[in-house]
Amino acid sequence: MRHLLDSTDLTTQEIEKIVLRALDIIAHPQQYAEACKGKKLATLFYEPSTRTRLSFTAAMMELGGQVLGFSDARSSSVSKGETVADTVRVVSAFADIIAMRHYKEGAPRVASEFSRIPVINAGDGGHSHPTQTMTDLLTIRRELGRFDHLTIGLCGDLKYGRTVHSLIKAMRRYEGVHFVLIAPKELALPDYMKAELGDAYTEVSTLEEAMPVVDVLYMTRVQQERFADKDEYERLKDSFILDERLMELGKPSMIVLHPLPRVNEITVGVDKDPRAAYFRQVENGKYVRKAIIYTLLSDEYMHAEPTGHHGETSSCACHNDRCIATTEPVEQKSYIDADGVKRCFYCDHML
Ligand code: NCD
Repeated sequence: MRHLLDSTDLTTQEIEKIVLRALDIIAHPQQYAEACKGKKLATLFYEPSTRTRLSFTAAMMELGGQVLGFSDARSSSVSKGETVADTVRVVSAFADIIAMRHYKEGAPRVASEFSRIPVINAGDGGHSHPTQTMTDLLTIRRELGRFDHLTIGLCGDLKYGRTVHSLIKAMRRYEGVHFVLIAPKELALPDYMKAELGDAYTEVSTLEEAMPVVDVLYMTRVQQERFADKDEYERLKDSFILDERLMELGKPSMIVLHPLPRVNEITVGVDKDPRAAYFRQVENGKYVRKAIIYTLLSDEYMHAEPTGHHGETSSCACHNDRCIATTEPVEQKSYIDADGVKRCFYCDHML
C-alpha cells in the first residue's frame, strides 16, 4: 500500500499522472462524482487548519465519499495521552484513508507504520507538506504551462516553512530550475536543504533584486507557532512585504503564489493584479486532493510497495526536539542520504 508522506514519495512520472488526473477532474467533474462512493476519509488534525482540512473534506465529498475525524486534538483521546500509533490503529478500523496534520515532524510517517490504510501527510511541523506542493505544481502547470526552466523566488520563512521545503524537493528534479532565496538570515533555508540544491540557488537580501528575474514568486508567512522566542517573531515578522510598487518590477508573465494564510507579507492592493495567483491556487488544492485521494485508493496503489527510503534501526537518537521520535514510543531509525549523510528516518535531520 502506498502513502503520501513527502514530495519525494512520488516519481516525476507519478507527479505528472496526478496533475493530468486533476486536469481531467477539472474538465469532467461529473465523471468522478461517485468515484469514491462508500469510502471514508479520516481527517486527523492535531494542528490548526482552514484550507487544507476543508479542501480535503470538499474533495472527498465531491468524489462521493464521506468524511470523519477531528480538527482539534483536544477533543480526541489524544488529550488522554493516546499515541499516534494507537490512534491510527483505531482509525484504520473506521476509515479507508487518512489525512493527518501534526505539529511533530515525522508523525505521519509513524502513523504509516501502524496504519492498515493509506496515510497522507497534510503538514508535519516545519518538515513537509506534500499535498500543498501538488497544489503549487498544478497551479504552476495551469498558469505557466511547464515545470522546467523556471526561476522560483522563495520569500519569507524558509527555515520553518514546510511548504517551501516540500516545493524545493519536488521542483529541483526538473531541468533548468533555479531558486532565488529571500529571507532574513535567522529564517534562512536549513543547510541540509541548501546542500541538496548544489549550485541551483542564489541568495539575495531584497525583493527588489529578485523581482525582475523570477517566473514564480512564492511568498510565505513567518511561522509564529514555531518560535520559542516571541520577541524574535515580532522583530522578523514583517521582514519582507510584497506591495504594488514591487509588483511593477516583476515580469508581465510572472505569478505570485502563497500557500495562505497571509498575514502582512502581501498587501491587499496586490490581489487585483492578474499575476496574483494565490486564490486560484486555493481552488487547485481541492482538485489536486481529489486526484490524490482517487489515486491512492486505486487498486494499483493499494497493492503497491511503499516508496521513499527505508529506515534501518539506529543506535543514535534524534536531537531535533520537534521530531516525533523524541516523544512517540518508536524505535529510532535512520537512513543514509545521497551524500552519505546519516539522517533521522522521521524528520530528515542529521543524526
Ligand atoms: C501552510 C501550512 O500549514 O504549512 N498552510 C496551508 O496548508 N495552506 C502555510 C502556513 O501555515 O503558513
